[in-house]
Amino acid sequence: MSNKDSLIIFDTTLRDGEQSPGASMTKDEKIRIAKALEKMRVDVIEAGFPIASPGDFESVQAVARTITDSTVCGLARALDRDIDRAGEALKDANSGRIHTFIATSPIHMEQKLRMSPDQVMEQAVKAVKRARRYTDNVEFSAEDAGRSEIDFLCRIVEAAIKAGANTINIPDTVGYNVPWQFGNTVSEIIERVPNSDQAIFSVHCHNDLGLATSNSLSAVLNGARQVECTINGLGERAGNASLEEVVMTVRTRSDIFECDSNLDATQIVTCSRLVSNITGFPVQPNKAVVGVNAFAHESGIHQDGVLKSRETYEIMRAEDVGWAQNRMVMGKHSGRSAFRARLEELGIEFSSEEELNDAFRRFKDLADKKHEIFDEDLQALVTDVSIRAENELVNLISMKVCSETGETPTAKIVLTVDGEEIAGESTGGGPVDATFRAIESLVETGSELQLYSVNAITSGTDAQGEVTVRLEKGGRIVNGQGADTDIVIASAKAYINACNLIMHGSKRAHPQSGGV
Ligand code: KIV
Ligand code: ZN
Repeated sequence: MSNKDSLIIFDTTLRDGEQSPGASMTKDEKIRIAKALEKMRVDVIEAGFPIASPGDFESVQAVARTITDSTVCGLARALDRDIDRAGEALKDANSGRIHTFIATSPIHMEQKLRMSPDQVMEQAVKAVKRARRYTDNVEFSAEDAGRSEIDFLCRIVEAAIKAGANTINIPDTVGYNVPWQFGNTVSEIIERVPNSDQAIFSVHCHNDLGLATSNSLSAVLNGARQVECTINGLGERAGNASLEEVVMTVRTRSDIFECDSNLDATQIVTCSRLVSNITGFPVQPNKAVVGVNAFAHESGIHQDGVLKSRETYEIMRAEDVGWAQNRMVMGKHSGRSAFRARLEELGIEFSSEEELNDAFRRFKDLADKKHEIFDEDLQALVTDVSIRAENELVNLISMKVCSETGETPTAKIVLTVDGEEIAGESTGGGPVDATFRAIESLVETGSELQLYSVNAITSGTDAQGEVTVRLEKGGRIVNGQGADTDIVIASAKAYINACNLIMHGSKRAHPQSGGV
């Protein structure tokens, strides 16, 4: 990388990624992901939006206290109270950044903020100056820059740099731009703003038209040196530019890009699985870089070519993004130290010996049912342990489900709710339907089932089924997860997990809600 510029990788999985409906994460889950991102050498981790809720504040604070090698960033609207809260949350960070933003497009200024361009400009400058009281690492974003007038963008960017911002972010908030045009916008701003050499230019692209990665890369070709992205492209609506696509394109096409990131790409698959596991958002099989089919060659001609020379059909090596090392197999003869060591390599640590013992006991149970245990199984097992540890309001004690040709399926369930054992039963259209009805008759959440998905974690009929259940109540959406070699039991676990989340959590403020 000697004569190449640095491309700063700013990961916003924990902030914009968490804005995907149902993707909310607990503090411990955020810490686990943050540690995996740090291990992957992400430069900046946007850990959350501290003013949104006490939970968000605590998560940003906890990540700031844990992470030492990456910069930890907190989001703040251009408001004193947001900035003060972000400054407070980041107080203990080894390296902290405040990211403040205000909308600059005519539609947002008129309809959402109800402010004139001059008022927006004044507020932006005030916000950057206030953020500088807490840290000398301040990022300013012109929200909806992709639909803003270029003259106004140039003026506000110049003023933000003068006020002390050292990173300027140009977001395509609604995913409206196309690559050549977005690249031109970035290069025009850099050219026209007189003090542009005093800041790093960044981009933050949404994927509404499937162009987030292309738009980000076009900006890089036009001078941007920070890309904001998320693992698996998670994020608001259609998501953000995906970290793995951006990083691997820049690296694979080093003949075209004059920069490279410092990322350890061999951690990509591990991070992808971790985020998928925690959020319950499966990765589509044909997803670039991290989909299970990304390096699978089905057609005979392709297989023949790859056997003769890998480069005939492969532009990257699977092991370079962490696929090969992700296939380690364990079994029922594997001991406790091998189990712990493998989990550590996967970025999974336990807060107590008791938690490790519990996970190891469940690993042995699983090894009795399943011959080979893959990394995917271990990650699912650990997510299951943390789910149980954190949400003990409702727990599954036992279940019996009958499914017979010509008969209506029935489910009998025994749960503890707040420590009290209760039993219930129900019939249903199928065994899963009967199970969900029986659980709902006991916990009475009144929520609506929005999504039910089953995903085989590995291949073979003894594979664990990983189930995601999405429930909605009063506008709040949660994703519950469960894994088991029996998919009806996995479904019950996922439903109970979702019930616990819906009964525990509270609604959070949304960064794009205005509030000025
Ligand atoms: O999409 C967006 O504009 C954002 C900003 C807060 C950077 O997420
Ligand atoms: Zn965004």
